[in-house]
Amino acid sequence: MDKNMSISDKPTTLNSTDPSTNALSVHGSFVRALETSFPSTILFSEAERLLAKHMLTIALKNENVGYWSFFQTPYSVQRILLDQLVWPGFDNHSLAKKYLIKEKITDAIYQNGVEQIIILGGGYDIYGFHTSLNNDHVQVFELDKPGKMRNVKVTAMRDAWCYNSLSHFTGENQQDAYSFTLNDNYHLICCDMSTDNIKDKLTEYGFNSDKKTLVIAEGLAMHLNESASRQLLKKQLFPLLSVGSEILISYISSNTTTLIAHHLLSSRNEAYEFALSPKKIPLYAANLGYHLTGKMLASDLLKLANDDKNASLLTRNQTMPDGRGGESYFCFTKNIKSLDEIKSIELSPIDTIPIINDTVLRPDKSQNNIL
Ligand SMILES: C[S@@+](CC[C@H](N)C(=O)[O-])C[C@H]1O[C@@H](n2cnc3c(N)ncnc32)[C@H](O)[C@@H]1O
Repeated sequence: MDKNMSISDKPTTLNSTDPSTNALSVHGSFVRALETSFPSTILFSEAERLLAKHMLTIALKNENVGYWSFFQTPYSVQRILLDQLVWPGFDNHSLAKKYLIKEKITDAIYQNGVEQIIILGGGYDIYGFHTSLNNDHVQVFELDKPGKMRNVKVTAMRDAWCYNSLSHFTGENQQDAYSFTLNDNYHLICCDMSTDNIKDKLTEYGFNSDKKTLVIAEGLAMHLNESASRQLLKKQLFPLLSVGSEILISYISSNTTTLIAHHLLSSRNEAYEFALSPKKIPLYAANLGYHLTGKMLASDLLKLANDDKNASLLTRNQTMPDGRGGESYFCFTKNIKSLDEIKSIELSPIDTIPIINDTVLRPDKSQNNIL
């Protein structure tokens, strides 16, 4: 493998996909919330805000003029439009879910002894990079489709060394046109979750099935069809993970969208394919071999971000009055060795499942860290 070879030196051999509109809108919303929401300065460090903003700037340089122009409008205008297009409280939801994920990763590493993190459909998320920088002993494997988005991300990470971490940059390997390893423990791997064999991809990068692992699937399941979603959890991840490993995964409760959102998503083949109501999750998880050990419903996320108005709209049935759904998070734990033991999994109604890690607003524990 060539060290430090530039992206343009490499021939493109993989089928490239357009950057994800969804990844851009989620990341843009996180940045807006970081820069404007009240709890953001308590929950996130300045370095995280700078890195997230930097990633957005690079992403927009590579976007079409329509998306670029949207992000030049005042935050208040962006927020009003996104609340109409996606769901009310979209920015608050993004802020809270990023905090939830950050906390889950920290707890997994420091309380559960996790040494490997797999991030499925990483988009422009910064927490794979953040985790790898702050935890040398943890291997982070981040999977997404090949394409320009991946190169945008690597470009942003390279420049990000200026955010306090220059001395920690140990170099970069490029495996193919869109796959990279940064700092020896952050692997950006091309993989289409609907068609590729995840185990083969991960093994190539040193994944060890005997080690306890945390899998993050943030905003992914709605983009896979029902069958691909099941296959991912049962056929691909179950045999790959050791007992005690966890999957933090999100589902939308309704795939209804506004016409404009549907048009924007469809133009990049990203229309929502799959939705699942929280009530159905306990049985769904059990049938795939997992215990449902935690939940964070969309309404809980909005409450976490102090957005009581939109939280109460969602509390009744987890969809907005116009049918648009929120995105809820669930923790699936692999507690059995073989799928033959599925029948031993006890089912509990969703109301009795505890909130993930009992997440509450906590001062940022990573202030002293590199990022
Ligand atoms: C809504 S975005 C979420 C991005 C990121 N997890 C976040 O929340 O900031 C969905 C991501 O899943 C990726 N994705 C969708 N379908 C995929 C597939 N079949 N294989 C790999 N990645 C996929 C998209 O490219 C995109 O980056």
